[in-house]
Order: sequence, then C-alpha cells, then structure tokens
Amino acid sequence: MTDNIQPTFNPGKGAGEPVGIAILGHGTVGTEVLRLMSEHSDPLAHRIGGPLELKGVAVSDLSKDRAGVDPSLLTDDAMSLINRDDVDIVVEVIGGIDYPRELVLAALQAGKSVVTANKALVAAHADELAEAADAANVDLYFEAAVAAAIPVVSMLRRSLAGDQIERISGIVNGTTNFILDAMESTGASYEDALAEATRLGYAEADPTADVEGHDAASKAAILASLGFHTRVKFTDVYCEGISKITADDIAAARNAGFVIKLLAICERISDANGQEAVSARVHPTLVPREHPLASVNESYNAIFVEAEAAGRLMFYGNGAGGNPTASAVLGDLVGAARNKVHGGRAPGENTYANLPIADFGSVETRYHIDMEVEDRTGVLAEVSATFASRGISLKTVRQEESGEHARLIVVTHGALESDLAATVEELKRSPGVKAVDSVIRLF
Ligand code: NDP
Ligand code: HSE
Repeated sequence: MTDNIQPTFNPGKGAGEPVGIAILGHGTVGTEVLRLMSEHSDPLAHRIGGPLELKGVAVSDLSKDRAGVDPSLLTDDAMSLINRDDVDIVVEVIGGIDYPRELVLAALQAGKSVVTANKALVAAHADELAEAADAANVDLYFEAAVAAAIPVVSMLRRSLAGDQIERISGIVNGTTNFILDAMESTGASYEDALAEATRLGYAEADPTADVEGHDAASKAAILASLGFHTRVKFTDVYCEGISKITADDIAAARNAGFVIKLLAICERISDANGQEAVSARVHPTLVPREHPLASVNESYNAIFVEAEAAGRLMFYGNGAGGNPTASAVLGDLVGAARNKVHGGRAPGENTYANLPIADFGSVETRYHIDMEVEDRTGVLAEVSATFASRGISLKTVRQEESGEHARLIVVTHGALESDLAATVEELKRSPGVKAVDSVIRLF
C-alpha cells in the first residue's frame, strides 16, 4: 500500500513578491497561456498576491514568427531556462513523453512547481513525477490534461475527496467527438472532419493519438487514478479508437436510436469472489439518443461521475482548443503561484487504496452486433445457440432483408467481455454467418 501524502511546510516568498514563470512551448496552448497572462496581469497579481513575471518561453524553432512575444524571452534551450534561479514555476505545454519527462523532472528536482497540460506524460509517469514533487515539496498541477476547461481534476482531488467514487464515464476527447458528430450531423467524411479538427487546434501533434483512443486512454488513466486512489497507467487502460467506424455504422446506430461516441469508462468493480478492482477502458460506444451524453456535440466533452453520497454528477464544457486549455493552465498557475507567495502546497496524489487492475475480459459489457446471415430456416436458431453456449442472453434480435442474405442485428444483455468476444469469433466461423459487419459495445 502506498500513501504518499507528505506533511511538509513551504514558508512562501511573502506577499507582493514576484513569481518567475518559464513557459515551455508556444503552440496552440502556449500561445493562449501567454496571451492571457499578459492581458490579465493585474487581476492575476491581485488573485495571487504578487505579480507573475515571465522569464522565458522555450520553443523548438526560433525562426518562427511569434507576434506579441518579446524576442529576448525566446530560447530553444528549455533546460537552461528551467534551471534559472529566478524561475519559480515551469509551465510545460510541449507535448510528447520522453523529453517533457526530462524537463519536468529536472524542474521539480530544482524546486520549481510544475503546471502541465500533458496527459500522455502524466498517464505514463505519474508515480515518478509525484515522488519528485513530494521530495522537493513543490506543486505538480495538471488540470488541463483532462478535458481542457472542465475542472474535473480539481473536482476529484478536492470536492469529492470525501466521497466514494463508483464510476467515472464520459467523452474526454474533443477531436474524436468532433469527427463523430460531423459524420453524424453533416455526413462529412472521416478524413475531412479530422482535417478540420486539426485546423481548429483540437488534435494532438500526431492525431493518431486521438483517433486510436490513446489520448482518451491517458485521460482515463488519470481520472481512474484520482477517483479510485489507485495508480492506473496508460498501459492499464483497454483502448479501441474510432478509425474503424464507418458511415454505415453511424447510419445503423441512428436507425436503432443510438449515437456512437468514444467513451472512457472507469469503474470500481467486484469479481466473483467479491474482490474489488479498477477497470478503465476506452472504446466506441452506442449511447441511447435520450441519454445526455448523446447530445454532447462538436469538440465538447462531458464527464459523468457516480459517487456514493453525491449521487450522479455531470460536467460539460470545452474539452480541447487553445483558449479552453489555457483557462485550465492559468487556473493551475494561479494556484501554484499563490503557494509560492503565501506558502503551502496543493493536495498531492494519494494511491493508498492500491486496488488491482481488472482484466478487460472480466468486465461486464453489452454488445450490438450487426451480421449478414444465410437466408434459410434454422440460421436464427444456430446463432442463438452460439450465444447460449456461453450463457449470453439476448435482449433484442432484429432481422432485415439484405439482397440474397438476411441481416441480423443482435443486442445482448450484459455478459463478460471475454465471453462476448469469444462468441463473436465463433459467429465468424459459423457456416450460416456470411459476415460480422460491426460489433459495438453499448453504454
Ligand atoms: P503544439 O504542437 O501546438 O505546440 C507545441 C509547442 O512545443 C510548440 O511551440 C513547439 O515549438 C514546442 N516544442 C516542441 N519541441 C520542443 C522542444 N524540444 N523544446 C522546446 N519547445 C518545443 O501543441 P499544443 O499546444 O496543442 O499541445 C501542447 C500540450 O498540451 C500537449 O501535451 C497536449 O496534449 C496538451 N493539450 C492540448 C490541447 C489542445 O486542445 N491543443 C488540450 C489539452 C491539452 P515550435 O513552436 O517552435 O514548433
Ligand atoms: N487532442 C485532445 C482532444 C486535446 O482532442 O481532446 C485536448 O486534450
């Protein structure tokens, strides 16, 4: 069991003292962080108790035009900037994992607080980063890493810290929500919608992270870690993206009364022996049209939290883009700067529960399966028997004409993921089944 709360004391610089800031990265997010810092410098100084002083901005390409940035503040040597004595807080908005890890660790070890928007870094190296922050008695904030402007990290760290979280689920990737919504509402192609999401600054530098679900999986790992007081890493999250979702899937979902959303679902579950475990997964999901998540469109995110005492809570807002992300970064920056001025430290990570991570196969899911079958007597019975052989009960079965074959659309009741997946494999080998066209889990 780990319990990494560190009761240490940071006396602070004193009211009115300036707080030195280094910003690493001047892309979609960094540009807006810098703009807000500069445009709102006076109110920020009041809220903090001392002014923020920009000491430098690290970039990769010094030859790019940086309107509004004092050229003397620009550097391509992020490590030297971090290590300057007059830098108190480092804001990391570069992205990636290995290089930002070096930078963030160096900053923490040098006694600087860190604010990062980098979910990939946090989901891969949270333990190491939290330990470095604890050892140096400084802050490590990452509100912007999950769902940009939605303050879900603070809500889990503070507001719900006294409750027992049972489930956190929702839409945590703006790019994929934008793509699925555009395909559904305007009939846009997958490629055009992705290009537009990239143009609008929602997508990661390599949008594969968005469309293959990796970005959402990093966010799921962070949410599950905070919600269940258990370290959940990116590699612990089952992950399927949206790159195989077709216009036909979307039309079929619409006809059946659903919309397809890429959901992150983090749950506290009990196995057959009553042993508690944490499950975290990301996959395309059929959401009933009347469910509030179905109407979360464009790049908006929404997160449902189910807690023992609080009941059901839903958080909705801008989940991607320069300004919404900068809002979250600035909120963290104010928090870290207040602590630098007045002393103290924000609540750190706490993974005392240390629950095991559930194998995805042991999680209960429900499937919507669309298949082409031979149009002959007995096929329905064969298909039903395949499900029954693993104890899977069917909720609805619909048959439609489809050229020389019939189309069978089956919705199952809840069953173990491993049994459902094995059943689909068996259906593919079954002589009466010509093709399994789509398999999508239900919410
Ligand atoms: P961008 O690709 O737009 O910007 C990255 C910035 O990092 C650029 O300014 C780039 O420099 C700089 N950079 C790259 N390599 C180095 C290096 N070796 N040294 C110094 N600077 C370097 O990314 P975003 O602003 O979109 O994202 C930044 C982070 O924020 C990522 O972790 C992302 O996941 C996260 N995030 C992004 C959101 C969004 O909606 N965009 C939302 C929430 C989080 P140069 O300008 O010279 O190319
Ligand atoms: N690429 C991410 C998204 C940015 O689309 O949600 C916000 O984290």
